Amino acid sequence: MSAIRLARAFTKRKYIVKFEGCYHGHSDSLLVKAGSGVATLGIPGSAGVPEEFTQFTLALPFNDVQAVEYAFQKFKHQIACVIVEPVVGNMGCVPAADDYLVALRLITEREKSVLIFDEVMTGFRVAFGGAQELYNIRPDLTTMGKIIGGGLPVGAYGGPSEIMNLVAPLGPMYQAGTLSGNPLAMAAGCAMLKHLREHKQEIYSRIDKLSRELVEGVAAAAKDAGVALCYNRVGSMFTWFFTAGPVMDWESASKSDTGAFGRFFPGDAGYWSVSAAVAVRGGFPGSSAYGAGCAADDCGGEAGVCGGKGMRFHGTSDGSGRQFCQTNRLPNHCPLSDWAIWLLKLLSMSGF
Ligand SMILES: Cc1ncc(COP(=O)(O)O)c(C=O)c1O
Repeated sequence: MSAIRLARAFTKRKYIVKFEGCYHGHSDSLLVKAGSGVATLGIPGSAGVPEEFTQFTLALPFNDVQAVEYAFQKFKHQIACVIVEPVVGNMGCVPAADDYLVALRLITEREKSVLIFDEVMTGFRVAFGGAQELYNIRPDLTTMGKIIGGGLPVGAYGGPSEIMNLVAPLGPMYQAGTLSGNPLAMAAGCAMLKHLREHKQEIYSRIDKLSRELVEGVAAAAKDAGVALCYNRVGSMFTWFFTAGPVMDWESASKSDTGAFGRFFPGDAGYWSVSAAVAVRGGFPGSSAYGAGCAADDCGGEAGVCGGKGMRFHGTSDGSGRQFCQTNRLPNHCPLSDWAIWLLKLLSMSGF
């Protein structure tokens, strides 16, 4: 919300471009064809948002360069910014097609519009430097959240001083909040980022390997069981879609059988679920069919999987992963991918 206000202040333009299936928070003008929970619930927007509040929001199909070109032609010199999840996590994990982000960069530069990478989910997750490091593309503004709070609520945005100096008190764009700069969240975030910086060589390769094994293992088991399933994965972010695929935008993502996802990850079915197998190592899969799952690292060197709502670190001392294991009577030392395969087979045998 603040990054968009800033882009509007900087360009003195009204329109914004977002993409179908991308979620950028629950401010009124952004709840247009948003992914995440809104997608799962099949709500086109949200009750309580007057149409007038979204009249300057252009929601375009993701991974479609022509649609962006067309919007800039139609709304010449009126588009303040293009905001994008560089790896979408809110319609499930959907990576940008080859050169799509480069095209967004070139078009926004040419049109003097602000390019915003929403790295709330990808920041410090797909790489230490986020998606912009992974793909080597520099946006004008970046938004962050989740991991940078180390489990506590934090949001941040940043960019070059030419733009940032417009924020009050230096400039005329107002922004403030009760929890801005909250000392506890700042301390947790600093500890998290320090840990990541010190261990980045091991952590990112370890969670990449973990997610590859898990995701490919389940996909292979699905193939054996004759279940239509495809997946997308970027580093530790991934989604299994219950559709033959490929999934590259909201239209293809929405072909997913969400009922099958619900049966695969039954929230209340005790340990007869892949959720339990995944959670045995201290985390949870995506919170819904359209929430990306994420492999997570723990400080003790084991690994788990957690939902897209935040990379979860848990210390060895609190033993939360092991606790879960005990209550569900699952053996502690079993590779995640084996559990997933075993359980998927079981589910398929029982008429899944
Ligand atoms: C990519 C992305 N952007 C923005 C947000 C919104 O973050 P917040 O609810 O902290 O405003 C989320 C939340 O899930 C997100 O996944």
